Amino acid sequence: MVTEVSAINAESLQKAKEILTGGGLVGMPTETVYGLAADARSAQAVQEVFRVKGRPQDNPLIVHVHENFDLSTLVEISQDYVYALLRAFTPGPITLVLKSKNVVAPQVSCGLDSLAVRIPSHAGAQAFLSYVNMPIAAPSANLSKHTSPVTAAHVLQDFSGKIPLILDGGRCSGGIESTVINVMGEVPVILRSGLITKEDVIRVVGKCEYAAENAPIRSPGMKYRHYHPACETAMFPLNELSKATALAASARKEGKRVLYLASEEAQTALFALGEKSVLSLGKTEEEIARNVYYLLHEAEEKCDLLIAIAMEERGALVGVMNRLKKACAP
Ligand code: TXA
Ligand code: MG
Repeated sequence: MVTEVSAINAESLQKAKEILTGGGLVGMPTETVYGLAADARSAQAVQEVFRVKGRPQDNPLIVHVHENFDLSTLVEISQDYVYALLRAFTPGPITLVLKSKNVVAPQVSCGLDSLAVRIPSHAGAQAFLSYVNMPIAAPSANLSKHTSPVTAAHVLQDFSGKIPLILDGGRCSGGIESTVINVMGEVPVILRSGLITKEDVIRVVGKCEYAAENAPIRSPGMKYRHYHPACETAMFPLNELSKATALAASARKEGKRVLYLASEEAQTALFALGEKSVLSLGKTEEEIARNVYYLLHEAEEKCDLLIAIAMEERGALVGVMNRLKKACAP
């Protein structure tokens, strides 16, 4: 199979619809990361997503719908604050976990009685969802364990020859996956951090918690190894740069190409130590989120060892650090 990468236009949307209707998979852009789209009503298509990604069978998928789609056909909304969240943050980088009405294939939620739903804001994603006119089950479009894709080229890297079509919507503006929130109980519970922060939710709802590290209701996907680039990785806190530079020195002695991944602040500190090979994440939370996966992909092309410098976990950087710690886990 030859994988076609196409801009989003009448012709490619028609092709996408035909592929999905036939039970096939299509790479699609969103504002967070690219997704691997399948018809959520088709058990066979959903199973194909798990197979092609190499995804564990107990890690459920998110269903994506158009902004005009009536969510109440898919899920039960029992808490009034859910409407406030929908008004405030959709379309956008948020995923709500609600009681399923069992309309989509049970494989989507891996047999759980809940369903994760998301309304992406990316214009191309909206055009796609409107055109195909079906609920779309889509995990991030990377092989299981690999770094999530934020360009069509990243999707092609993992799925060339394995899926027929990737819709190219440019580089994702958000850069990390949506915030996943369990909204079935009285208090919204963040299962996976993202660009919409706990503080954002509290501003709208007045309350919000993080799922405990070991709580059974945590996003099942959070327990697996994730996001790893195809190079060696390490991570040090900003106050242990001497350990980082020592590791860099010994790796270089072995002939390895070394790069750092650091915020602007840490980059300045590295420069002062004579370390100039830095992929800069930037300064603001938004910039850093937008750059993190993009630069992890760049790192695997350009170095043998990537040394990340940890950042303070505040706001959207909670989500960034969650990804980076996993990407840099030994
Ligand atoms: O931004 C995103 O969310 C991207 C784009 C493509 O929309 N999608 C994405 O999908 O990140 P994926 O499959 O890589 O991650 C889905 C996360 C996993 O951590 C999974 O465990 C959780 O959502 N999840 C899905 N359904 C769930 C459910 N019913 N209950 C709890 N967690 C669920
Ligand atoms: Mg993923």
